[in-house]
Amino acid sequence: MADQVSTNITWHDHSVSSEDRAKLNGHTGCVLWFTGLSGCGKSTIANTVDHLLHSEGVHTYVLDGDNIRHGLNKNLGFSPEDRTENIRRIGEVAKLFADAGTVTLTAFISPYRADRDQVREIMPEGSFIEVYVNASLETCEKRDPKGLYKKARAGEIKGFTGIDAPYEEPEKAELVLDSDNKGIDELAKEVVEYLKANGKLKA
Ligand code: ADX
Repeated sequence: MADQVSTNITWHDHSVSSEDRAKLNGHTGCVLWFTGLSGCGKSTIANTVDHLLHSEGVHTYVLDGDNIRHGLNKNLGFSPEDRTENIRRIGEVAKLFADAGTVTLTAFISPYRADRDQVREIMPEGSFIEVYVNASLETCEKRDPKGLYKKARAGEIKGFTGIDAPYEEPEKAELVLDSDNKGIDELAKEVVEYLKANGKLKA
C-alpha cells in the first residue's frame, strides 16, 4: 500500500488546543496499549480499568479487537500484512481519541513489535503506554475462552498467534502485568496506580 496517495491536502491546526481540552476534562488524553496473546486477559483488564477510571470521572474509551474487526477493519484478516494494517489504523484512531482528550484503551494482540513501535512513534512523547499482559501460552490455552486454541491445534484455524504465528514480546513496555498469577481486579488496579503515580491523569 502506498504511504500517501492523496495530494493537494492541507493539515489543519485545531484552534482548540490540547491544553484547552485537558483543562476542560481535568486530565490529558493518552493511549493505554494492551498487548498479549489471545486469552491473556487484555479486553477484560482494559474494560475493568475503563470502569474504575470512569467512576472517578475520567473520560475513557475502549477500542477492542473483536469489535473493531466487525466494523472499521472488517476487510482485514490475519495475514502478517493485514495484522500490520489493522494495528496501523487502530493506532491512528487511538491517536485521534487521545488528541480529543480521552484516555483511550486498546486491546489487540498486536503481535509485531515494529507495528507497536510505529504507533508509539506517531504519538506525542509520553502519551503511549504499552501494557504487556503477560500470560504463558499454556495459561491462555487452558483458558481458551473462545475455543480457538482447540481449533488451531486441530488445524481448523491456520496462522493462529502462539501456535503457528508469532507473538513478539515487548522489550520496553511501560507496564508488565503478571496474568499467569494475578486476577483481573488486582491487575486493573496496578494499571490505575501506574497512571496516577506517573501523572498521566493530570490536566
Ligand atoms: S491482531 O493480531 O491483528 O492484533 P486482533 O487483536 O485484532 O489481532 O484480533 C484477535 C482476535 O481475533 C483473537 O482474540 C481471536 O478471537 C480472533 N482470531 C481469529 N483468527 C485468529 C488468528 N489466526 N490469530 C489470532 N487471533 C485470531
